[in-house]
Amino acid sequence: MNILSGRFQKFIRNFTQLIDTAGGDESLLIPRGKVILSQLVAADDWLPDRYAQPHPQYYQQYLLHADPSDRFSVVSFVWGPGQKTPIHNHTVWGLIGMLRGGEHAENFCLGAEGRPMQACGAQQLRPGVVESVSPITGDIHRVSNLFEDRVSISIHVYGGNIGRVCRDVFDPQSGTRKPFVSGYSNEGEVCTTSAAPLRVL
Ligand SMILES: [Fe+2]
Repeated sequence: MNILSGRFQKFIRNFTQLIDTAGGDESLLIPRGKVILSQLVAADDWLPDRYAQPHPQYYQQYLLHADPSDRFSVVSFVWGPGQKTPIHNHTVWGLIGMLRGGEHAENFCLGAEGRPMQACGAQQLRPGVVESVSPITGDIHRVSNLFEDRVSISIHVYGGNIGRVCRDVFDPQSGTRKPFVSGYSNEGEVCTTSAAPLRVL
């Protein structure tokens, strides 16, 4: 991944230092991590085109950096016009920094078993804005490109090797969960020792 710029390399150095210091303490990681990610997405001149390519049918998740000890990973999330995720969780903390375009994020809470899922808040993300998700404060959401006519891109940092984490998608009407492992859109250039099965949504 050495085609990534000095700006990105500095971001990785700063984030690695934060993880070294804070360990898994989210009360430190999330506020300090937001500041570091804000600095990265303050300018949109560093992401190589190969990690900014949309797919006509599916949103893309390109791995930009994986910590050697799987303590965190960084991806570019690329939305084609009008694309959206299913309702899903993360099971690890996450930071979302908007780089280009915009996103609409809808949060959900699990209701009684077999009942429709409850919407519990929504946000619109614009370039430069950083948001967070966490299993502690709520990490179930559905995200869509705010635009029907252009590509949007956000940079995500997760508390694990997110493409290898087993998590869930949810049926909005019943809350029934179905496990999935996302993988990465650039699997061909990703080195990994994980044997987890892959299924890209
Ligand atoms: Fe998400």
